[in-house]
Amino acid sequence: MALDAEKLNTFLGQFVTDLGAAVHAGMVVIGERLGLYKALAGGPMTSSELAANTGTDERYLREWLSSQAAGGYITYDAGSHKFSLTEEQAFTLAREDSPAYLPGAFQLALGALAAVPRIADSFRSGAGMGWHEHDDGVFHGCEKFFRPGYAANLMSSWIPALHGVKEKLETGARVADVGCGLGASTILMAKAFPNSRFFGFDYHDKSIAAARESARREGLDGRVSFDVSPAKSFPGKDYDFVAVFDCLHDMGDPVGAARHVRQSLHPDGTWMIVEPFANDQLKDNLNPVGRVYYSFSTLLCTPCSRSQEVGLCLGAQSGESRMREVVTSAGFSRFRRATETPFNLVYEARP
Ligand SMILES: C[S@@+](CC[C@H](N)C(=O)[O-])C[C@H]1O[C@@H](n2cnc3c(N)ncnc32)[C@H](O)[C@@H]1O
Repeated sequence: MALDAEKLNTFLGQFVTDLGAAVHAGMVVIGERLGLYKALAGGPMTSSELAANTGTDERYLREWLSSQAAGGYITYDAGSHKFSLTEEQAFTLAREDSPAYLPGAFQLALGALAAVPRIADSFRSGAGMGWHEHDDGVFHGCEKFFRPGYAANLMSSWIPALHGVKEKLETGARVADVGCGLGASTILMAKAFPNSRFFGFDYHDKSIAAARESARREGLDGRVSFDVSPAKSFPGKDYDFVAVFDCLHDMGDPVGAARHVRQSLHPDGTWMIVEPFANDQLKDNLNPVGRVYYSFSTLLCTPCSRSQEVGLCLGAQSGESRMREVVTSAGFSRFRRATETPFNLVYEARP
């Protein structure tokens, strides 16, 4: 077999980039945890200045800064020996309220990778692994990664894309956020729609405890409540609006969950299903976004579904056709793609 040297070199080039990215995940988590990006956003600094500013060891910091400069996450000026952030680097790495704040994604990745030995065993045994069994970085990284996207899209485009929902929320509606995790989406909606009442549910007790704490901090105690409940049996009837954010595919029995949503909705209610962006065919998902989602799905979503009853294992890239089957087989008569972003598909289902 003759190797094509050019193809081999191209592939090895990709490998170096990928290996750098893999260890870089840890670098970003360190930078975020120690406030290094935020400090650097204040202006150009030498490693000694940044060390003094952040109470860190200069030698460690210099090594970290060098890794960041080599990776394009920080800018280095060889003349002054100063490191700095461009506007774009600061926007994505130092500003937690930016719609593209990235460090949470790496916290999620690092947390998920802690499960690799167990998931490798699961390839042989077929055993599942519940969301609750993962490293804490998974829960907090997920919230930190998803919240900016929700803040940027939910009120401005996702909810307005649904028939009549925005008006109901403005007037005063009963809303359930199912599989709410740490409650980022619930809290954002509650702040935007002060006349409505919000109920967040998730089967994971630690996530619900953290969501309650966030609601208390935000002063939303009376209008937002969080309770531990699986999606197939969350309490309450006649909800005007039920939302699921990036979790239907994680469930073992998404059809059962959909059936329960159908029974819990007001006859004129709406179910919004936010899912990772995906095309129906594997060949159309073979791109950088698909790579991210299939990898997270191998470590998190598929094992989570496998750990629950039925264990349908839709995976994070199930696509619209499969989702339509799930939702309509549960008794919803109307289903459509309401809108999308490069990372998410937003479906509207109505009884
Ligand atoms: C990827 S996280 C998304 C969390 C949150 N919706 C968000 O967007 O930040 C998936 C969530 O689904 C929850 N989950 C998985 N299976 C569930 C089930 N059967 N019932 C309720 N929640 C479930 C997990 O505990 C986890 O919080």
